[in-house]
Amino acid sequence: MRDFALEKFFSQWEFQAKYHMTASDAQSLSIGELLSLAGKTMEDLTNVHLSYTETWGAPSLRQAIANTYDNLNADNILCFAGAEEGVYTAMRVLLQKDDHAIVVVPNYQAAETLPIEICEVSGVALDADSNWRLDLDDIRKAIRSNTKLISVCFPNNPTGSIIPPDDYAELISICREHGIYLFSDEVYRLLELDESKRIDQAADVYEKALSLNVMSKAYGLPGLRIGWIASQDKDVLTKLEQYKHYLSICNSASSEYLAEVGLSVREQLLQKTLSLMTKNISMLDAFFDDYSELFEWQHPDGSCIAFPRFTGRGGVESFCKNLLEESGVLLLPASIYRSELMDAPTDRFRIGFGRANMEAGLLALRNYMEENRSALQA
Ligand SMILES: Cc1ncc(COP(=O)(O)O)c(C=O)c1O
Repeated sequence: MRDFALEKFFSQWEFQAKYHMTASDAQSLSIGELLSLAGKTMEDLTNVHLSYTETWGAPSLRQAIANTYDNLNADNILCFAGAEEGVYTAMRVLLQKDDHAIVVVPNYQAAETLPIEICEVSGVALDADSNWRLDLDDIRKAIRSNTKLISVCFPNNPTGSIIPPDDYAELISICREHGIYLFSDEVYRLLELDESKRIDQAADVYEKALSLNVMSKAYGLPGLRIGWIASQDKDVLTKLEQYKHYLSICNSASSEYLAEVGLSVREQLLQKTLSLMTKNISMLDAFFDDYSELFEWQHPDGSCIAFPRFTGRGGVESFCKNLLEESGVLLLPASIYRSELMDAPTDRFRIGFGRANMEAGLLALRNYMEENRSALQA
């Protein structure tokens, strides 16, 4: 299989760089902090039996997850080891070599690479010049007689853009008209900067949708590795469950317990993430304001990542490389988001703002900018 560029880059740098300023998850909690937030004790955790669990996920966890949807029950939920196993399994099960898939670009690389490994894939651009708008005519034009699946991600990784609700409803009508599955990656949902931009969860409103979600992002619990796919289509879920027998088989019992604990205090976890994001984004506003000749900055609609443009001399790749080597500040340059399907932006970088290290990281970034400002000016 093709390399997963982002994970390969992270394998080298994520735990090496002094200032990880490009994380896509929110600030995590320790097990102790999570338990005490939920009024649980260490003893509660130590009583969890480390047996195999059900492949579908513990019934009580599936019910707690189903409660986060408007129209679904526990039997509409299949748990996975993180969202990533869900993406992999869904693509392997839904797509065969004679099928065709449509994927938005730019995107989280797995969304594009996994289908490409299986069948023909068309990319449809989110347009940088119109606030990352998805042109539904492009989707219509890309549809073929064998199009099996459209894969979207809103809030999008890396741009943070969200499709407007009317366009989303239209996208679902297009899928329905052609009998196409909609794979909707919703891992950044609930992190909208303006709540009125929040869109429905696809599985609530479309009978052939698969909604992907996880404890990693909005809830700040990536180390649990608990993700899930929600769908009204129980036949598809059953096929995914059977494929999972060849992967993780089942989730970790202690993680399932802690995910349920996390969901019992989901409002508190979300508020914690959102207030940190609000504080951090105002620091980013001040930074980008001070260096406005070198960056084009725009708030994402949602998520705790953004994709600003670097307009300085030498381009974004060397900016990110030099910054990392000289100051230990880790950002993700545009090349990580290269697409095989079409041109993707080449002058942007991903910055994260869901973690508690913003002040220290921005200080290091500011120091670097002060030392290099005139050299970077085009
Ligand atoms: C859009 C998107 N989908 C899926 C995933 C995978 O999530 P996890 O690492 O929790 O499996 C990520 C992780 O960064 C992501 O950004």
